[in-house]
Amino acid sequence: MTASSTDAAARNVRIRIRRQDGPDKPHRWEEFDVPYRANMNIISSLQWIAAHPRTVDGNDVTPPVWDSGCLEEVCGACTMIINGKTRQSCSALVDKLEQPITLEPMSKFPLVRDLFVDRQRLFNDLKKVKAWVPIDGTYDLGPGPGISEKLQEERYPLSRCISCGCCLEACPQYTPVNKFVGAAVISQVRLFNDHPIGAALKEERLDAMMEEGGVADCGKAGNCVEVCPKDIPLLESIAAVQRQATVYAIKRFFSK
Ligand code: SF4
Ligand code: SF4
Ligand code: FES
Repeated sequence: MTASSTDAAARNVRIRIRRQDGPDKPHRWEEFDVPYRANMNIISSLQWIAAHPRTVDGNDVTPPVWDSGCLEEVCGACTMIINGKTRQSCSALVDKLEQPITLEPMSKFPLVRDLFVDRQRLFNDLKKVKAWVPIDGTYDLGPGPGISEKLQEERYPLSRCISCGCCLEACPQYTPVNKFVGAAVISQVRLFNDHPIGAALKEERLDAMMEEGGVADCGKAGNCVEVCPKDIPLLESIAAVQRQATVYAIKRFFSK
């Protein structure tokens, strides 16, 4: 064993977790020491704590609860607030974080337990705006329409959304009690409205965008762009959907 690996083995990482047994229960803070390993991330630290749930004060406690899936920043499930910043815990490397590392659940979604929140509202809003291309069928649909390279380049960044909720957590207009759909959903409206087949549902999507909670509720402060882990041009999407909604509203007015 080299000197540096001996040092690493002796080091601990201090992690502070906001614990809450359920939505209506009081919260508390618990601190844990996790043996340092090279390249450890927050999820691997949580896994160690779950297997050794003893606080730094020597109290045996229940294992902390969190959500995760892909472990490679694709599913968005492991999103939480780490040292005050909303991000994915599977890609948060311990070496890059100040200690003690503080973990909290996102605050805009209903709490399930500890670090685990329920993002169902986001998925319900994606359903509300029909965020899909309507191609279901049991018959051969043939080749799809061609999409220009320029449009492909515009749409590809939008398709990288992982529905993590970071943009909603950071948004001052998105609250647990209002109806605002937030930047992620607005950006998906743009993605599917700009698809040649997806455009079949464009007016239905814009109808939803013009209801309470739609694009007009955005204050354009841009917090969403700052925190998006996939660098999605959310402000461009918001402006594009606002333009589409305006044109559609004028068209609807004159067709009455
Ligand atoms: S621009 Fe501001 S108000 Fe609009 S979605 Fe982004 S964070 Fe929310
Ligand atoms: S737009 Fe960005 S921050 Fe918002 S849900 Fe999608 S990936 Fe996450
Ligand atoms: S576990 Fe899927 S994004 Fe982290």
